Amino acid sequence: MQLNTKHLLTIRDLNAEEVRGLVQRAADLKAALKGQGHQPSLAGKSVALIFDKPSTRTRVSFEVGVSQLGAKPLFMTSRDSQLGRDEPLKDTARVMSRYVDAMVVRTFGQEVVEELAQWGGVPVINALTDRYHPCQVLSDLLTVREHLGRLQGLTYAWLGDGNNMAHSWLEAAAALGLNLRLACPPDFMPDKGIVDHARERGAEITITHDPREAVVGAQVVNTDVWASMGQEDQAGARRQAFDGYTLDAGLLALADPAAIVLHCLPAHRGEEISEEVLEGPQSVVWDQAENRLHMQKAILEALLAPQAS
Ligand code: CP
Ligand code: NVA
Repeated sequence: MQLNTKHLLTIRDLNAEEVRGLVQRAADLKAALKGQGHQPSLAGKSVALIFDKPSTRTRVSFEVGVSQLGAKPLFMTSRDSQLGRDEPLKDTARVMSRYVDAMVVRTFGQEVVEELAQWGGVPVINALTDRYHPCQVLSDLLTVREHLGRLQGLTYAWLGDGNNMAHSWLEAAAALGLNLRLACPPDFMPDKGIVDHARERGAEITITHDPREAVVGAQVVNTDVWASMGQEDQAGARRQAFDGYTLDAGLLALADPAAIVLHCLPAHRGEEISEEVLEGPQSVVWDQAENRLHMQKAILEALLAPQAS
């Protein structure tokens, strides 16, 4: 599958057909992995993973995914490279591009992945910034399709911080024309420009400060930590600000009885989600975590070996 973009920095880089194509390809790769296996479509290639924040799922799913496609993953951080000694991003981008075939980057500012993409010669994949988490939401779409059989015609609820995950859900809603309701405390609203853009592209976006209003009748109920990576010192204040936003059995009872619960993980039980809901029958978080692997491979193939998919 050929994408119209060289990089994946945000879901805004993709159109509806491309989003659906990635979901289908990830499903096909998943089925192949569990059956006859698939081609090592990236044989001989190398992919750098540059991570400036902690990670379990994203790092391991990319490392394993790159290996399963026959390529070599190279994990590094700024701290143990010259980036940590202030080598400019534009120099790093040009040097890395002489060695590797792609860079997968987890960092703070969205401008970092943009600058690496601007100066390097190889595809850059956003593995989470403060602003977006596109790979996560693309694989979450696969999880929704697996469990509910479709993406369209559903009501999606988002509870919590209007930051990176919410922004990528807004962009997925924009690409696919989804009905997305976000409940965020007043000081933690999503970026207005991203909301406006989603509405302009035809998504049905509702924003409220009342979690019940977002959840009622929804088929997909989604939450995330209250203090994201880099915000650990605000955890106490955020616990107060997000009081009432815990996805517990009482709140989930307002959703469609067949609703699924998504959480990108790591989860803080008793804060954004109760133990009962996270471990309950409507939670699909382990499938959701697994699907990261299959979607990373679909993304890598689409950018590095489009003829394979
Ligand atoms: N969901 C997610 O991105 O998890 P990690 O921080 O463990 O990569
Ligand atoms: N919003 C969270 C997502 C973690 C996968 C964070 O940025 O830490």
